[in-house]
Amino acid sequence: MEFSDVESCVQDFSDLGAEYKVLEELNREYINKLEEVGDLQAKCMKGINHQRYRLGIVNRSIKTLSRNISTNDAKQDAIRGLEKDLLRRMAQLHEMEQSLPKQNGLYLKIILGNVNVSILNKNDKFRYKDEYEKFKLILSMIGFILSVVNLFTNFRALELSFMFLLVWYYCTLTIRESILKVNGSRIKGWWRLHHFISTVVSGVLLIWPNTRAWYEFREQFMWFNVYISVVQYLQFRYQQGVLYRLKALGERHNMDITIEGFHSWMWRGLSFLLPFLYVGYIYQLYNAYTLYKLIFHPEATWQVPVLSALFFVLFLGNTVTTSMVIPQKLQEQVKLKYQLVGLERLSWGGSKHHASSQNQSSPTQMDAHSASHNHVKYLPEAGSVKTSSEVKKEQ
Ligand code: COA
Repeated sequence: MEFSDVESCVQDFSDLGAEYKVLEELNREYINKLEEVGDLQAKCMKGINHQRYRLGIVNRSIKTLSRNISTNDAKQDAIRGLEKDLLRRMAQLHEMEQSLPKQNGLYLKIILGNVNVSILNKNDKFRYKDEYEKFKLILSMIGFILSVVNLFTNFRALELSFMFLLVWYYCTLTIRESILKVNGSRIKGWWRLHHFISTVVSGVLLIWPNTRAWYEFREQFMWFNVYISVVQYLQFRYQQGVLYRLKALGERHNMDITIEGFHSWMWRGLSFLLPFLYVGYIYQLYNAYTLYKLIFHPEATWQVPVLSALFFVLFLGNTVTTSMVIPQKLQEQVKLKYQLVGLERLSWGGSKHHASSQNQSSPTQMDAHSASHNHVKYLPEAGSVKTSSEVKKEQ
């Protein structure tokens, strides 16, 4: 709708002025609240640092004291109780930290500058991680199609587009993973380094000249990508399962799924996935070996030894890191059982050694995800721990 004369326009603009005043007031209030939030965040961060500092002193003191007390001394019980409380408080502080902004790492500072990438809401964090997994899946499916097409055709342009896609994909992964890390992800350093190395591998492949040496390796490389895409699909299924189950654990207060139930699902998932992963690593070793033999090819360029070394590093790093996951998770499970008993006692007000009122208050709704990684497993309702037969039934 348009106005037919100037007077109506002037009148309408002046009416709008009144509404603008309200909007201006609202915006001022919003800016004040933002400043307030900034102040509260700074205070919380200071408080957390202070708590950590004091907890550190208590922790060091009880370590020294427990060495000087005989094992059957009653004070040992008090020390054990205090140790559990310390663990629990550390987990609570970690949980608090998840709602506060964090500094970017060096890599993010270099590529993005000092922009704030902290996600302060749990649901948004979950969505970001979910998106990251889906992004990997979609790109690996595209990779699968491109490698199959490359296997049955021989277009240099298509080959180069595939390599370029790989460079972009791994580069993007390193950025997304750095953002995940800022937001509390426990992704191991190796997997991030692995994606940096993969970016270099794809870059070197992109500039490998179109020689006979390349054609000796081309088919093996395309089959490798087909296989890796399939493995990535299986990894996606596993990671989605973990993500959604942990979310359920955190949200539904342990009525439908227990930590034990989650662990038994996780072991089944891992035992299915691991053989595929190890075959992939052997394939990486085989790539390194084929490239090593190609070093002596008359048309070999510098890319051949570099790629051979990089594939070997990938094989080694992947094998060592994945092999470390199993004992680490076993240890986690043993600790889980131990702590379930300990925390159950605490949450029922059973910490008789030092009457800290906060232990008797209602348990903090600790995020099961961070708990599972923190090695401090906490059930919102201690009474809802299910027996293993119940867990089996529910699966
Ligand atoms: N890439 C990206 N993130 C990974 C990862 C990987 N390869 N492996 C684990 N993570 C993430 C997890 O999602 C989790 O993130 P969160 O803290 O944000 O929830 C965190 O790292 C800790 O995971 P962790 O508990 O150590 O392991 P997991 O049970 O999630 O996964 C494996 C264990 C072995 C299944 C997984 O590490 C994996 O798939 N590794 C193989 C990767 C590989 O070899 N790729 C090349 C194929 S040849």
